[in-house]
Amino acid sequence: MENRLRDMAEAARKALREATSLDELEEARIKYLGRSGLLREIQQGIRDIAEELRPQVGRMINETRNELERLLEKRREALEAGRVHERAGTDRIDVTLPGRAQRVAGRHPLLATLDDMLEIFLGLGYTIAEGPEVETYYYGFEALNYPADHPAMDEQMTFYVTDDMLLRSQTSTVQIRVMERTKPPVRVVVPGRCFRRDTLDATHSHTFHQLEGLCVDEGITFADLKGTLLAFARGMFGEEAQVRFRPDFFPFTEPSAEFAVTCFVCSGEGCRVCSGTGWIELGGAGMVDPNVLEGVGYDTERYTGFAFGVGIERFAMNRYGIPDMRLLYSGDMRLLRQF
Ligand code: DAH
Repeated sequence: MENRLRDMAEAARKALREATSLDELEEARIKYLGRSGLLREIQQGIRDIAEELRPQVGRMINETRNELERLLEKRREALEAGRVHERAGTDRIDVTLPGRAQRVAGRHPLLATLDDMLEIFLGLGYTIAEGPEVETYYYGFEALNYPADHPAMDEQMTFYVTDDMLLRSQTSTVQIRVMERTKPPVRVVVPGRCFRRDTLDATHSHTFHQLEGLCVDEGITFADLKGTLLAFARGMFGEEAQVRFRPDFFPFTEPSAEFAVTCFVCSGEGCRVCSGTGWIELGGAGMVDPNVLEGVGYDTERYTGFAFGVGIERFAMNRYGIPDMRLLYSGDMRLLRQF
């Protein structure tokens, strides 16, 4: 019986060690260690041997079982590890695949234009101020010296929230707020959103953007205004640019002017962009009306100032050749990706 056990154990060891797959290993387990396997058969034969020999043989059988089970576990682990290895061989990461491109955000043409404008004025010693988009009638019109019957205040032109509250129709409102809290000298530029009752088309929008400028100090003259706007035009359009001033009217400036720059496409010859005139209108400007300065408590004997306002959309459209203002608000990626 001992011999049978030894032979069986030897065969079992060999079978377990040499199993090349988990299936083969399982087969060997069933054959030698299974419920009706060879080891069990030998164990059952114990009844047929002399009683005093049984404990010793029993112990040998147990030892053999333990040994074979350890061997079985070891081989199972090895085969499983091998299978992982095998899979790694076929599933491995393909480092030659092209990577996923990162999308880099771009600046919106309106903001890019505004940034360039601000850059120029920061270089001239201006700071940036902002003000509310919803304004009272006082800041919206009264403090800007609008006479009580001025058509700009008409409901046809301005959005009213209540009788006394409105969406600002120009960034000039912020001039007042800045002067109220600042003693001269004042040098600010004010970017911001404005609102008018305009019907959306290629050159109009109920919501648009302006950049306002205000400079108040002792001895400021119209020559300073011209020099400043010339520097601005040259910063935006190049050193060849010229500016033109023509009389205009705004309630908060006296005298007032509209100003234009030589067309950056034809340099003043006349082309499609400037409608054949050689000039591109940029905005309004003037010397701050003494009534406005008095309203914020400035000494008008001592201080004078100039102010100007430009539309940012117009600038951006000219600059980038965008034919329709609506494109700027469409969020259309085909437009935005070009900048
Ligand atoms: N706010 C004016 C407009 O919307 C533009 C303007 C004109 C602004 C003259 C000014 C100015 O500051 O002095 O048409």
